[in-house]
Amino acid sequence: MTADIHFGIDIGGSGIKGAPVDVTTGELVAPRFELPTPPGAEPAAVRDCVTEILDHFDWPGPFGCTFPAVVKAGVVRTAANVSQDWVGMDLTQELDVSRARQAVVLNDADAAGLAEMRFGAGRDATGTTLLLTLGTGIGSALFVDGTLVPNTELGHVPLHDGDAEAYAAASVRTREHLDYPTWAARLEEYLRMVTHLLWPDLVILGGGVSRDADAFIPLLAVDCPVVAAALHNDAGIVGAALAVHAAG
Ligand code: BGC
Repeated sequence: MTADIHFGIDIGGSGIKGAPVDVTTGELVAPRFELPTPPGAEPAAVRDCVTEILDHFDWPGPFGCTFPAVVKAGVVRTAANVSQDWVGMDLTQELDVSRARQAVVLNDADAAGLAEMRFGAGRDATGTTLLLTLGTGIGSALFVDGTLVPNTELGHVPLHDGDAEAYAAASVRTREHLDYPTWAARLEEYLRMVTHLLWPDLVILGGGVSRDADAFIPLLAVDCPVVAAALHNDAGIVGAALAVHAAG
């Protein structure tokens, strides 16, 4: 198969990273370039990072870009882990560093889900598949027979008088110095609630922590198969590249 290269950028709570991706294989065709997310994730500073990443690769054309919030028709609608100044901004304009570099933008977890469903742990999945990204927050991507239901935001379901992500995200484990069994008990509580609402056929756990899946997935007692994401931290980049490819 001939390579078909598109560019993906993943804007996350701790890092902003990008790489060219062969969308026929899901492989990064060059090592990814990553910058730390500027404190507060203010629009101007994040935009500068995106420009720097594109310039690093001399990427001249359109690109796909994830954003860690609800994004509808290019417009940011929420801001849980980034500056509130983003709310209402049209990212396709904001990140359009030049006319040729038009951005196709989507939620970060939705992008990771698209990549996992195409190339990773959801490749052969049918029925209802739920991907959860465990990072600074909890992102969710819901698929029904391979079709994405965008912007599901299941990290914000209430749990223990707050958002579930404030109780069970991977960042909470680090911040509160929880060992894996202690954090896994929290995650299990969260997964039981979510799976008893949606009854998925498969749950895929992603985010950087999925590299340590053996330390916590076997501890989770949930009545649904739970597996680790295969693409780890590259899923967002790959999903962003798939999105710009799909947009033609
Ligand atoms: C945001 C989601 C995002 C998730 C992971 C949540 O706080 O509301 O939109 O997908 O964090 O970054």
